[in-house]
Amino acid sequence: MDGAVLVTGGLGYIGSHACVELVRAGRRVVALDSLANSSAAVAERLAELTGRPLSFVHGDVRDIGLLIRVMREHGVDSVLHFAGSKAVGESVGRPVAYYDNNVGGSMALIAAMHGAGVRRLIFSSSATVYARGGAMPLVESSALDAGSPYGRSKLFVEQMLFDLRASDPAWSIACLRYFNPVGAHPSGRIGESPRGVPNNLVPFIAQVASGQRERLQVFGGDYDTADGTGVRDYVHVLDIAEGHVRALDYLERDGGGCVAVNLGTGQGVSVLEMLREYERASGRPVPYAVAPRRAGDVARCWADASLAQRLFDWRARRSVAQMCEDSWRWQCANPDGYR
Ligand code: NAD
Ligand code: UD1
Repeated sequence: MDGAVLVTGGLGYIGSHACVELVRAGRRVVALDSLANSSAAVAERLAELTGRPLSFVHGDVRDIGLLIRVMREHGVDSVLHFAGSKAVGESVGRPVAYYDNNVGGSMALIAAMHGAGVRRLIFSSSATVYARGGAMPLVESSALDAGSPYGRSKLFVEQMLFDLRASDPAWSIACLRYFNPVGAHPSGRIGESPRGVPNNLVPFIAQVASGQRERLQVFGGDYDTADGTGVRDYVHVLDIAEGHVRALDYLERDGGGCVAVNLGTGQGVSVLEMLREYERASGRPVPYAVAPRRAGDVARCWADASLAQRLFDWRARRSVAQMCEDSWRWQCANPDGYR
C-alpha cells in the first residue's frame, strides 16, 4: 500500500467520509472534486479531522489530461470513484447530462487510469440497479434493471467495468452497491449538505426536527409492509466508508477480478420507524402527513450483505439510533450545511 489513493468526488457526502477512513487506515489520499455538489470548506474540515492537510485538486473527472497528471504526480495506484450526479428525479428531466457525467466521467477516468498505468478501481454503484419487484433480501445475483436514467448510468458503468476486466486481467475492480447511506461523522464536522429541498428521507426529517420545515410528507401509507410505509436498508455513512477501505484491502490482497458487492445492513426499516428513532435521538417532535406514493418508489428494499462479509470481512456496525444521533449532531452544528 505504498501508492496514493485518488478519491474522485472526495469532497462529497460519502467521498469525504471515505477520505477520513482512508487516512485513518494509513493511506495517502488525493481528493479530486469539481465542487458541482460540494464546498471547498470540506477540504479544511477534512484536514482538521485527520490532523494533516488534504491533497485536493479542483477539477472535473472528465478532464483526462488533468487526471493523468494528478495520478502521476501523486503516485496513485488505486482510485475510488464517487464523482457523479445522483438525483433520480433530476435524471429523468436531464438524462443526457446524467449519462455525460456518470457514464462519460467513468469512461474518461478509465482512459486516464489506462494512461497512467493504474488498474485498481472501486466504483460507487447503487441498489437502484436491481429490478423492481424482486424477492428480498437482494443478493448480488438478483435481476438487474434500473428504472431511471440515473440508475441506468450506474448499470452501464458496472457492465462496462465487467467487460473491461474480461478484456484485460490486469484490472481489479469492485462495484459497491450502496443501499441507503445516512448519518454523519460523529464529530459533527462533515455530513450531507443537500441543496434546496432534500430528496431523501433522513435529511428531510432532520430539517423538520430542527424547525426548518413544517412537516414530513410520508410518501405512501398503503404499501404492503407492516405499517404501510416504505421499507429501506439505511446504513451509516461511516460504515459505507469503512466498506471502501476493506474493499481496497481485498483488491490488493486477492488481486484481480471484477466484483459487484452490496453494502447494506441487511435490515429493513420503515419510514415511520425511522421517524420515531429520529424523534428519540433529537428529543424533538417530527410532525408528518401521509401523502400519495412517490412515482418510481418500491415498497421494500434491503440487502443480503453476506458477500461483503465473506469477501471483505466487512459488516455494518452502527445502529439506526447512531445514524439518527449523528445526523442530528451534524444538523444542529450546521443548520445550513456548508453554506
Ligand atoms: P455527492 O453529490 O455528495 O458527492 C459527489 C461529489 O462528486 C460531489 O462533491 C460533486 O461535487 C462531485 N462531482 C460531481 N460531478 C463531478 C465531476 N464531473 N468531476 C468531479 N467531481 C464531480 O454524492 P454522494 O451521496 O456522496 O454520492 C457519491 C457517489 O455514490 C455517487 O456516485 C452516487 O451516485 C453514489 N451513490 C450515492 C447514494 C446516496 O444515497 N448518497 C446511494 C447510492 C450510490
Ligand atoms: C432514493 C433513490 C435511489 C437512491 C437512494 C439512495 C428515488 C426514487 N430513489 O431511494 O435511487 O439509490 O435514494 O440515496 O429517488 N420518503 C418519504 N418522504 C420524503 C422522502 C422519502 O416518505 O420526503 C420515503 C420514500 O418514499 C422511501 C423512503 O422514505 O420509502 C426512503 O426514501 P429516500 O431516502 O428518497 O431513498 P430511496 O427511495 O430508497
